[in-house]
This record gives sequence, C-alpha cells and structure tokens, in this order.
Amino acid sequence: MTKLTFIGNGNMAKAMIKGLLGKYNIEVYGRNQTTLNNLKNEIAEIETYLLDDTNEINGKNIILCVKPNSLDDLAPKLTGCANSLYSVLAGTKLETLKEKIKATAYIRTMPNVAASYQKSMTTLTGDGALKESALEIFGNIGETLWLKTEKEIDIATAVAGSGPAFLALIAEALSDGGVNAGLARNDANTLVQGLFAGFAPMLVDTKPSEIKDSVMSPGGTTASGYASMEKNGVRNGMIEAIKSAYDKACELGKK
Ligand SMILES: NC(=O)c1ccc[n+]([C@@H]2O[C@H](COP(=O)([O-])OP(=O)(O)OC[C@H]3O[C@@H](n4cnc5c(N)ncnc54)[C@H](OP(=O)(O)O)[C@@H]3O)[C@@H](O)[C@H]2O)c1
Repeated sequence: MTKLTFIGNGNMAKAMIKGLLGKYNIEVYGRNQTTLNNLKNEIAEIETYLLDDTNEINGKNIILCVKPNSLDDLAPKLTGCANSLYSVLAGTKLETLKEKIKATAYIRTMPNVAASYQKSMTTLTGDGALKESALEIFGNIGETLWLKTEKEIDIATAVAGSGPAFLALIAEALSDGGVNAGLARNDANTLVQGLFAGFAPMLVDTKPSEIKDSVMSPGGTTASGYASMEKNGVRNGMIEAIKSAYDKACELGKK
C-alpha cells in the first residue's frame, strides 16, 4: 500500500484519515503529543510522530493539513524533497508552496469535513503529472472535480469547503423555525435530518428551480414561505456569503 504522510492532525486531517484508512498506509506528524496520542487511541492503524526542529521528507507523499498562517513556521522544519505535496490550505497558492516546501510535484486541493463519511466534495488543481494519483487518493473520500485554475479553487473553497458550515446554519434555522411554531426540538431535528437526506439524491438529477416548482402550488404554503424567504434576503445572504468567503481565500493567498 502507498504511504501517505499527514502533516497536521486537526479536524480536516482526521476527517480525511478516516476516509482513507485501509487503502493507504498512513503516518501523521503533529506538534502536540497529547492530541497525537488521542488520535492514535481513536485510530489504531496509523503511526504518529512528533514534529522535530528538522523533519526529513525525502520521497514522501505529503498531505499538508495545517492552517495557512502556520506555513511560515512549519516549512523551514521540513528538509529534503517530497515525492508529492497535496495541500488543503485555503487560499495558499501553488507558487507559495513551491517557494517554501520542496517536492517533485504539487497539488492544491479543497476537501470538506464530509470526508470522514467518504462524502467530501473535493476540488483539485496543480501539476498535471499528479492529476491521476490525486484524483485516486481524494476519490476515496467522496466526489472529486479537477479545476483548471487556482481562482476556481478559491471559489470552490467558499462553496464546498465552507459549505457544510453554511448548510449547518440553514439546518439549524429550519429546526428553530419548527420549534418556534411549536414542535419539540428532537422532532424538529429529526425532520431536518430526513429532509437533508432526501434532498441530496434529488439534487443529483434535478435542478434546484425544478425541485422548487414541483413543491410550490398556487397560493399554497410553500409559495407563502418562499416569498417570506425572498423578502428576508435568504438568497442574497447566501450569494454574499460565498463572495465574502471567496474574498477571504484571496486575502489568505496574498500573505
Ligand atoms: N475544517 C474544514 O472544514 C476544512 C475544509 C477544507 C480545507 N481545510 C483546510 O485544512 C487546514 C487545516 O484546517 P483544520 O480545520 O484541520 O484546522 P485545525 O483543526 O486547527 O488543525 C490544524 C492542525 O495544524 C497544526 N498546526 C498549527 N500550527 C502549526 C505549526 N506551526 N506547526 C505544525 N503544526 C501546526 C495544529 O496543531 P495543534 O493541534 O497543536 O494546534 C493542528 O494539528 C486549513 O488550512 C484549512 O484551510 C479545512
């Protein structure tokens, strides 16, 4: 089995490792022994290592999972030339990665936290020579989409990387609406879970506008609720959220 080396052992690394277990040998480098021990206790199959002042990365296939603002501190501690470098860092440009960490080939990728359920929507771009292996690795944690430009990855970061948080707000608000109208919280949450589970497969082959039209009858409950959503700016709120997250990804890329 090919070995993958995770650097960073936070939320994203954990979500991805769970999806890749059994298909790759996985080693994880982190800077905190306690959180590494916790990860090893949770996932026995992995090897964990504490990051040193110098860490040999020659020939390794690295999945870089630290925050973008940790790169300057981490990079000087990595010596040698990796075989491949897959970065999940939001906004951080390929050019910056190439300046700071040596590798034969580079990929920028943007998975999301659904990776732990093998349901990530992951976008990728970078060196064509690594395209096939990148799609294979990240295909193990869900759907993949290869993009031609880094600008598109920054937009995808907003839509699908941050997307679970945006959908969480919608899910919570729907449940709050149910409770506000008189439903018990548990029942409202159960309704929302079922709603999202049933909606996902519909979205695969039906446009959102068609789903909406199929539910909305003249003068009915859906039309009334829908008009209220438009009046309260839900659509524009989502468009602005994507713009704002995209702007932030661009800002991170400039540092
Ligand atoms: N979370 C998401 O949904 C998501 C989705 C797509 C992409 N991403 C990207 O994934 C990356 C990690 O995000 P995350 O949510 O996993 O963050 P996180 O939970 O905070 O994990 C960050 C990891 O990096 C380690 N770290 C921080 N500074 C370091 C340094 N100077 N040297 C070595 N290790 C360092 C942290 O160690 P400590 O535990 O010691 O702090 C931790 O293990 C980010 O670049 C983000 O853009 C995240």
